[in-house]
Amino acid sequence: PNSTKKAAKGLRFTPVAPNTADAVTIPEGYTQQVVMRWGDALFSDAPAFDLHNQTAAAQQRQFGYNNDYVGLLPVDKKTQLMLVNHEYTDEYIMFPGYDAQNPTKEQIEIAWAAHGLSVVAVSTQKKGGQLTPVVDHPLNRRLHTTTEFMLDGPASGADLLKTSADPTGTTVLGTLNNCSGGLTPWGTWLTAQENFNQYFANAGTVTDPVTAARLSRYGVSGGASERKWERFDPRFDLAKEPNEVNRAGWIVEVDPYDPTSTPKLHTALGRFKHEAAQPRITGDGRVAVYMGDDERFDYFYKFISKGKFDSSGTPKARAHNMTLLEDGTLYVARFTGNSPASEIDGTGKLPSDGAFDGSGEWIALASGTTSYVEGMSAEEVYLFTRLAGDKVGATKMDRPEDIEPSPVTGTVYIALTNNTQRGTAGKPAADEVNPRNVNKSGHIVEVMESGNDSGAGTFGWRIFLVCGDPADPSTYFAGFDKSQVSPISCPDNVTFDEHGNLWISTDGNVLGYHDGLFGVATSGKYRGQVRQFLTVPIGAETCGPWVTEDRVLVAVQHPGETDDATFESPTSHWPDGGSSVPRPAVVAVWRDGKSGKTGQ
Ligand code: FEO
Ligand code: CA
Ligand code: CA
Ligand code: CA
Repeated sequence: PNSTKKAAKGLRFTPVAPNTADAVTIPEGYTQQVVMRWGDALFSDAPAFDLHNQTAAAQQRQFGYNNDYVGLLPVDKKTQLMLVNHEYTDEYIMFPGYDAQNPTKEQIEIAWAAHGLSVVAVSTQKKGGQLTPVVDHPLNRRLHTTTEFMLDGPASGADLLKTSADPTGTTVLGTLNNCSGGLTPWGTWLTAQENFNQYFANAGTVTDPVTAARLSRYGVSGGASERKWERFDPRFDLAKEPNEVNRAGWIVEVDPYDPTSTPKLHTALGRFKHEAAQPRITGDGRVAVYMGDDERFDYFYKFISKGKFDSSGTPKARAHNMTLLEDGTLYVARFTGNSPASEIDGTGKLPSDGAFDGSGEWIALASGTTSYVEGMSAEEVYLFTRLAGDKVGATKMDRPEDIEPSPVTGTVYIALTNNTQRGTAGKPAADEVNPRNVNKSGHIVEVMESGNDSGAGTFGWRIFLVCGDPADPSTYFAGFDKSQVSPISCPDNVTFDEHGNLWISTDGNVLGYHDGLFGVATSGKYRGQVRQFLTVPIGAETCGPWVTEDRVLVAVQHPGETDDATFESPTSHWPDGGSSVPRPAVVAVWRDGKSGKTGQ
């Protein structure tokens, strides 16, 4: 796929070839810039990054580790707010000579500060996509493991949310494993707490069978945690604080325009390994939020607010809109295929009607304090949402990652990253919406709400892409000529540009090349023409992304990460080069020339 002309508007670049370079590789005629790296200062009182003399106090004033979600909100003509998740830490890269069995208190406190969120003002240029961080901007903010957050909604104050430090069950310190997210139409940031299970130790000491089953369903298990935080803070020890774990796994709403605001954990949106949250206004003016639970055989959800969105733009309207996610109805999706089950053989072969497609319904789980799930109270539905999904027979998906409604058509796109257990012994076999057994490269599903109304109770769906090497017969690129597409594997975070092209970042490419960012038209004659825009360095995952006419932004997450047990020092030296340690960083890319715009 090397013609710049024969492509949809906004995607007329020369695709990058798959590669294994320790670099961010971009199309010819484009320029890139590292906007912000792990350790860069948000405030002038932060010391310059020094790998060998890092402190928790410094890290609390510096950009955190493992940037994932990236979004921009406007401030003024020359300034935007860049919103970034710091999902997790790679201690063996952050601390030279790290002893995983005996981390020091300082190392653990640095890791606490390196998790969380960053709000950074960035100034834009008249020409070109460069973004310059504004150190000490009054809206700059670091949120980390000791920042105060507030639980709201119907489960707030529940007995199962009370701890010895917080007998009210309403105030939580910090946010962990924030993966992707989304922005609301009222200018706040939704950020998703994902793999929280890994931070909590000693689940194995829990004897109550109901509690043990709940922990197990959420992947909380075993003795010591990987990072050993429980040695320095009892809230990470289930033997001492059995309810702390229930206070993680939520959707967080942050008001980035008020650096003194307390972010909200919205219990009405349920508790699971939240990947992302994407709002869309319903036909009658309420707000729907689409959400995925990133686990093999887990579910796709939707929340619909009780109250209506006020678009008048006044401060009073904004204050009202910021309460919308406190009360509403939580639904889970059930997908039904329209082809005979006998035609879904698990190889990815299309059924005789020529499409993996069908219909679906939204099953209500709870609304306010009312539960619709037999044997579960509303509070239990919000706290143990996975168990509610199990009970109502929701469709078990191949790891629902990021979700994005098209701003042009309203169709909702779900990235299903992979599921190598599909169809293996004792596990669910392929069905029409997850049509490939041992699904190594994932797929993308389109959901068309009935009447194109995100408030609908039913929907149609079809598979858009079945990912992999286009030479692999199990792949499908919306029917586009497979000799004219880039190979793509393990779709994860997604976003749209203003033309209605879907941009897909990948995590865990199994085709022998590094992860990357891809653009694909979703309608018109180039629908399904996947084109690779960039690749990321050794060991890295592509996150973000954020695509406008001015620039493409990606978060290069975990460069140098490896599961090599003989690890001695990182094999990636991106972005600083030489023998430096790799540093997760946000990168901007824009087209050279007069306009400095990405699209054409
Ligand atoms: Fe943090 Fe599911 O990706
Ligand atoms: Ca079909
Ligand atoms: Ca992700
Ligand atoms: Ca991922």
